[in-house]
Amino acid sequence: ENNTLLQGKTITITAGPTQEALDPVRYISNHSSGKMGYALAIAAKQLGATVNIISGPVNLSTPEDINRINVSSAREMQQAALELASQSDIFIGCAAVADYRAADIQTQKIKKQGDEITLTLVKNPDVIASVADLTKNRPFTVGFAAETQNVAQYAQGKLKNKNLNMICANDVSQPGLGFNSHRNALTLYWYDKSGKDMQLNLPENTKQALAIEIIKTIANACF
Ligand code: PMT
Repeated sequence: ENNTLLQGKTITITAGPTQEALDPVRYISNHSSGKMGYALAIAAKQLGATVNIISGPVNLSTPEDINRINVSSAREMQQAALELASQSDIFIGCAAVADYRAADIQTQKIKKQGDEITLTLVKNPDVIASVADLTKNRPFTVGFAAETQNVAQYAQGKLKNKNLNMICANDVSQPGLGFNSHRNALTLYWYDKSGKDMQLNLPENTKQALAIEIIKTIANACF
């Protein structure tokens, strides 16, 4: 195993969910466990990189020799990402970031009231798009796309619209794969150094085995 492939390189990875507070006791979130992002961090470390992990709230211990920054909301994640991205050679957005947050976070617990209540949500910043838009010291930027239908089409749309270098398409409609499991299956789409469309299908495996393949593919695509 070539454990010096990423020697001297810095990789920043987002992982886990975000939590968007509604009031002091409630939030909006999703089923991301952080396992895929942490597996990428471990793989990058094994291949010799300096690794930062920007982590939403997860129940995972910090892997050895990895710099972990804990965040909760999408806006906190964006702030940490922009601070670290320009010092990084590679940025991977594996976190499941909430697209919307509450328009107003109530300072007191919302009381039970009528039979229906309405929450107003406003759009969150797009963390990875803001990294990909950096004009100075922009890292090679890799996104994930969690989709339940039209997986290839939607993933390739995100690759283009968010100005990414690579996207890992994750079909999250299959039970036992994707969110909060040890196993996954992915298809990677990227442009090679001459701008040609590339694709790599990574069939079902453990997240740790897939992470090694993803990190090697990224290293070959960008260095
Ligand atoms: O954490 P696990 O339980 O191991 O599960 C892994 C996973 C399913 C969460 C992971 O493999 C995955 O697919 N992550 C992306 C989840 C997601 O929210 O995808 P998306 O299609 O909504 O977002 C597309 C890309 O934009 C992602 O890189 C995401 O990090 C990024 N994004 C999205 C919204 C936003 N406001 N800011 C972002 O940066």
